[in-house]
Amino acid sequence: RAVIGEALPGLPDDTPLYPDLDALTDALTHGAPLPEQTILHLPPTTNDPVEATHHLTTHTLHTLQHWLTTPHYTHSHLTILTTHATTPTPDLAHAAIWGLTRSAQTEHPDRITLLDTDTHPIPHLPHTTTLTTHPQLAWHNNTLTTPHLTPTQPTGASTQPTDTSTQPAGFDPDGTVLITGGTGTLGALLARHLVTHHHVKHLHLTSRRGPHAPGATQLHHDLTTHGATVTITATDTTNPHTLKTLLTTLTHQTPHPLTAIIHTAGTLNDALLHHQTPHHLTHTLTPKADTAYHLHHLTTQLQTPLTHFILYSSAAGHLGNTGQANYAAANTFLDALATHRHTHHQPATSLAWGLWHTTSDMTQHLDEDAIARLGRSGLVPMSEEEGLALFD
Ligand SMILES: NC(=O)c1ccc[n+]([C@@H]2O[C@H](COP(=O)([O-])OP(=O)(O)OC[C@H]3O[C@@H](n4cnc5c(N)ncnc54)[C@H](OP(=O)(O)O)[C@@H]3O)[C@@H](O)[C@H]2O)c1
Repeated sequence: RAVIGEALPGLPDDTPLYPDLDALTDALTHGAPLPEQTILHLPPTTNDPVEATHHLTTHTLHTLQHWLTTPHYTHSHLTILTTHATTPTPDLAHAAIWGLTRSAQTEHPDRITLLDTDTHPIPHLPHTTTLTTHPQLAWHNNTLTTPHLTPTQPTGASTQPTDTSTQPAGFDPDGTVLITGGTGTLGALLARHLVTHHHVKHLHLTSRRGPHAPGATQLHHDLTTHGATVTITATDTTNPHTLKTLLTTLTHQTPHPLTAIIHTAGTLNDALLHHQTPHHLTHTLTPKADTAYHLHHLTTQLQTPLTHFILYSSAAGHLGNTGQANYAAANTFLDALATHRHTHHQPATSLAWGLWHTTSDMTQHLDEDAIARLGRSGLVPMSEEEGLALFD
């Protein structure tokens, strides 16, 4: 075995330690023996979660690309050791590494294992055979576990929307609901649904194009016709200063203060892992993950009386879709942020959506073959009715 990154106590004293994969590769070219198992040990992050996430995903992307393209490692196995990526007290940057790596695993099966621990450093490593045969493992509460997805009943999930009458979402009729990406496909659909089915009367929709987004004028007209007060603004939510101004105004707005946030803003920049660059990461992380964290952090600071903090995440984070390592990272960040808020007794729901049938800017690139491929992996597109019922 060899360790790259931070030292790992508990391993034999002669276990080689390298600061990074470049150093191990360098040692191999100078005759060092190829380790059967290499552990990339990522230290827990202590700095700003957004900064840490950009830094750690870039570093891990570089390591994965190097590992997967260097012939030395073809017959070796890499374990990425994270801390609190999947626990109730998540390290958000480590959570993003799980999404990123799941996509790498889908593209390159049997080469990489994810191992999460809730004890830093991990008291002892699982046996090499365990590490090489399970793509995902967790050492939590002194127990080694491996995750499994459990299929739902196909008839219930795909053809019978949930009975919404038994599950009122309880939006405050006097409060304002902010939807980021509110002029996008799913955001606009939700805005209509909130007004027609949840008696929401005050909406603030925002996106970069805002009132100039396609369909925004009609959307405004339709919502106001149903009796709602609607404001559509052009805001780039990745800018924390602009977001702060918006959230401060909405929080102190009387008599309809901000009581619910639904964060749907997002962008795609798909590419196979080998072709991903730090730019791909920034492009998808910033509108989704950075915005989500700023929304969380700023409303906590402002003590905004939120009843709902809902994040539009994606199953891509859990399934590790091919070509979506950057997107998967952004979505597991969102899921972990919801968990983090629960731990601090703050409302949060992260909805890890499968594919919606309605074509959006984000999904219009999917042709019939791509949709068929997703279907074979279990992701059958859902109708608007099914999706909105699941939202309820
Ligand atoms: N559609 C699906 O099948 C599906 C499946 C799983 C998850 N999701 C998630 O659902 C959400 C909505 O997806 P969609 O399909 O409705 O996509 P969409 O139609 O492209 O909507 C995305 C919205 O985000 C806005 N946006 C992007 N960057 C922004 C920024 N920096 N600041 C403010 N607004 C920004 C876009 O408007 P501007 O370009 O004007 O800013 C647009 O209104 C996304 O988070 C996506 O990941 C969708």
